[in-house]
Amino acid sequence: MTTQETIAPTTACGPYGPALCSPSQSVNFLSKTVEWATPQDFFDAANAEFGPFTVDVCATPTNAKCAEFFTAEQDGLRQEWAPRRCWMNPPYGRVIGQWMRKAYEESKRGATVACLVPARTDTRWWHEYAVHGKIRFIRGRLKFGNGKANAPFPSALVVFTENANGQPRLAQEKP
Ligand SMILES: C[S@@+](CC[C@H](N)C(=O)[O-])C[C@H]1O[C@@H](n2cnc3c(N)ncnc32)[C@H](O)[C@@H]1O
Repeated sequence: MTTQETIAPTTACGPYGPALCSPSQSVNFLSKTVEWATPQDFFDAANAEFGPFTVDVCATPTNAKCAEFFTAEQDGLRQEWAPRRCWMNPPYGRVIGQWMRKAYEESKRGATVACLVPARTDTRWWHEYAVHGKIRFIRGRLKFGNGKANAPFPSALVVFTENANGQPRLAQEKP
């Protein structure tokens, strides 16, 4: 997608919907942050606390945060994630629910999955999956893609992780 393409408001507003995003805002914002790439400093802090992450489950070769990653062509939703420690900043839009379900289910199989998602606490996927994770609400707004503009939506880091007893694993514990 180039910087000057016309973007439909509902698509551009992806994670928070057109009610909170005018078309002009979305085009301006997306022109700098097409892929909503995780800010490197945010990833580094999450990686230090909940990682080290060994696979980025939704990425391209140019934006992957880990040496191992799954692309859209491979379809991360169809791959096995467990027992790895996984980084997940999913494609935004209606598909987020599928990614959160996958993250939750893979954690039941032994994966640790850190999910950077919009803090949409009114959604079905939040109530069905996110509430079962360790939730870290992010103060302020992220600058996706290391751009200068703040995201027009709040974000949260949701970490799904279980040990053999079904109890949340402490960050320091080994898988
Ligand atoms: C929000 S970006 C995250 C990029 C990067 N992983 C990061 O954390 O900065 C979501 C990425 O998911 C990729 N993607 C979309 N559908 C996918 C799929 N089915 N399987 C794997 N990756 C996918 C997109 O190409 C995009 O690069």
